[in-house]
Amino acid sequence: MAVLGGRRIINRVMASPLHRSCRSCATQAKKGVVVGVYNEDGQYKLTEAASAINTRTSGYLLQCLQYGSPVKGGKCRVLFGGGGEPVVGVVGLGEQKPKQQQQELEERDLAREAVRNAVAAGVQELSKAGIESISVDGCGDEEAAAEGAHLAAFKYQDLKTKKKPIPALSCYGADSERWQRGVALAEGQNIARKLMETPSNMLTPTQFAQEAVNVLEKLGVEVLTRGYEWAAERGMNAFLSVTRGSAEPPVFLELTYRGNGYTQDKPVALVGKGVTFDSGGISLKPASNMDKMRGDMGGAACTVGAIYTAARLKMPIYVKGFIPLCENMPGSRATRPGDVVKASNGKTIQIDNTDAEGRLILADALHYASQHQPRAVVDIATLTGAIAVALGSGAAGVFSNSSALWKAVHQAGASTGDRVWRMPLWMHFSSQVTEFGLADVHNIGKHSRDAGSCTAAAFLKEFVTCDHWLHVDIAGVMENKDEVAYLGKGMSGRPTRTLATLIDLLACSDAPL
Ligand code: BES
Ligand code: ZN
Ligand code: ZN
Repeated sequence: MAVLGGRRIINRVMASPLHRSCRSCATQAKKGVVVGVYNEDGQYKLTEAASAINTRTSGYLLQCLQYGSPVKGGKCRVLFGGGGEPVVGVVGLGEQKPKQQQQELEERDLAREAVRNAVAAGVQELSKAGIESISVDGCGDEEAAAEGAHLAAFKYQDLKTKKKPIPALSCYGADSERWQRGVALAEGQNIARKLMETPSNMLTPTQFAQEAVNVLEKLGVEVLTRGYEWAAERGMNAFLSVTRGSAEPPVFLELTYRGNGYTQDKPVALVGKGVTFDSGGISLKPASNMDKMRGDMGGAACTVGAIYTAARLKMPIYVKGFIPLCENMPGSRATRPGDVVKASNGKTIQIDNTDAEGRLILADALHYASQHQPRAVVDIATLTGAIAVALGSGAAGVFSNSSALWKAVHQAGASTGDRVWRMPLWMHFSSQVTEFGLADVHNIGKHSRDAGSCTAAAFLKEFVTCDHWLHVDIAGVMENKDEVAYLGKGMSGRPTRTLATLIDLLACSDAPL
């Protein structure tokens, strides 16, 4: 960069078609483009789209980049255009080929993650600058670019009178199949984010069911809504024990998606925890942050989001979703600590802590799912605070009795960047929820909170008969503060894309599961 007497010489840039500081002409245009640049040992390398813009502006894009510090990976430099040129967000992609060792250690596709981060930064910066329509460079991976763009553009503002504009997004050049796939994956996650963020008084079990109908039925997914009587007839007393303290009626959703012409008779079953508000019940939670428990239907939300993506992409597979929905409240009819109920599989459960309610509603839902002879069962739940202690927001915890299914979900997480981490499902933990007290099973481990996520998983195992079962504990990834740059602050909808990708892997695989 040329510096004269401490002042940068920018007059030549100011006169060029792409300059950095003239906001008024930029906002007039309201059109923007996000393009990527790699940084190879301090040298910029342009993507095809960036190169095209650089050529069209007689090399000004590269010239502009010489002013100021290098554009780092996941960062954006906004170049405001003149003379009707769109505003350009130049985004850093880092090294084009991430190091193999780093890739193995991180257990995810770093190049794809770099594209998501970079494109997201571009979309965020350009929308802050008031750009209404953004064309996005695929940066070598149009699917990841579409994900980054659509996840970054999402805002939950349904309850604001004055809404911020959300830019229209398109693929630079032509929309490809891969771009459309990324859009479907991101929108599935955005559906989950919206459901999780919605306050509990506006998303009761009944309203959740209505939302599922609104989102899924138009894609040909069947949505069956069952009430109290239906659950009582089936002896789902573990599920119903949780709803007793609430005035809101429970709902049990059964979703069915069958890919066109797909004749396989065994479904992949998804089971999602749908506690629309978890106060803890009589074992009441502390007041601080209790509002976050509006997101305790995150498993249910991810289930809806993943089935949405599967249906939108017409995946060739048979999937069923089972979603028990209720509130956990401390009303006068609420379940008391020490109460015993008989679940639908005949096992008796002593409820030592009414705040360990997720596993109770899942017990009956897992047993019901098992009755459909599934080829695989995947349950997803904001189940334990303990998983956040173990893994933070780094990964969802996975417990599985099937290494084949674990491998598939691990591969899915590496591809989406939204990772999973395997945890133990040992008899060691089973004995801590079975071998004591009044009933067959206890809803908390006998060593109190020790290994809380593992004893919760061991509890669920008592209600599973399928040989390919996977339990995903998502309490730690429920919310995003700033850990994932391409998701804004708020409920995360994680790991919807990983679930959808797992469904896709199962659709394409010849494996017996
Ligand atoms: N919904 C909570 C778990 C949770 C915690 C989700 C934090 C999201 C963020 C669950 O129902 C619960 O309360 N679990 C208890 C279990 C305990 C009583 C054994 C917990 O984790 O403290
Ligand atoms: Zn709870
Ligand atoms: Zn809960």
